[in-house]
Amino acid sequence: MPNPIAYELAVMTLPYQQWHLDRPDASAVVAALEEGKILYLPRLSFILTPQEEALLDPVLLEPERKNISYRPDRDRLDGVAAPEQRPAARQLLQRYYQDCRALMASLLPAYLDACHSPAGTLRLHQVADWRARASWRKDDSRLHVDAFPSRPNRGERILRVFTNINPYGISRTWRIGEPFPPLAQRFLPRLRRYSPLASWWLNAVGITQTRRSRYDHLMLQLHDAMKADTDYQRDGPQLVMAFPPGSTWICFSDQTPHAAMDGQFLLEQTFMLPLSAMRDPRRAPLSVLQSLVHESLI
Ligand SMILES: [Fe+2]
Repeated sequence: MPNPIAYELAVMTLPYQQWHLDRPDASAVVAALEEGKILYLPRLSFILTPQEEALLDPVLLEPERKNISYRPDRDRLDGVAAPEQRPAARQLLQRYYQDCRALMASLLPAYLDACHSPAGTLRLHQVADWRARASWRKDDSRLHVDAFPSRPNRGERILRVFTNINPYGISRTWRIGEPFPPLAQRFLPRLRRYSPLASWWLNAVGITQTRRSRYDHLMLQLHDAMKADTDYQRDGPQLVMAFPPGSTWICFSDQTPHAAMDGQFLLEQTFMLPLSAMRDPRRAPLSVLQSLVHESLI
């Protein structure tokens, strides 16, 4: 039987209906987010134009692509199968990026100038369809924290905004896991040791873009150990949460365990954030892990 987590401990609900906010009462928002809570905005929708709505079909994806991706800083769009639909996809992801920036300016202003490397995705597959094709390591219906295998981030935070744009009334359902400190304590004894030689080799042959730090190694090990532990998946602390169409949510996905269980058609915007921009960097996974192993992980 799963060990339930109380909603109030995992989620902060916010009433806002606009991406551009005038003087929101955001005083407690940063603290909640940095604690690992999900900021849930049940009434913050993202309205699609008719041309953008026509994009909501998995046939739009290039074969074997998980999603359409967009890098606003390079104006780079990937994953659209039909050239004639590229302008609408670019417009959609550019608009979403701008709205996410506006929301951050209102709710998380201290992050705005520091965040970098924005990357957005339009996710078109049904969660269940994609899960059926994925290996256990890529199966995001298992509780995990995000860690990028090819892009070491040396402790920087992964901040993600999600909006359910399903036009058929279908919620995006997640399981949300325990806070990061007990999670790290639980799994740390089982994680394999870091090898500087392996880190060098992975970079030398091009598997990683830069060398993995001790931190990157531990986070990937943690990601895999969580997904591989079927007892933890079934019985570990968790909360089921349904995000209906027209809702938006924000979390540090490197900190907050999450699992996508159901749904289709999602917008997601990622920002990387240096620890120095946090109100309390001691909450970051890097700091938590360093305090447990008593050494620098960078
Ligand atoms: Fe994830």
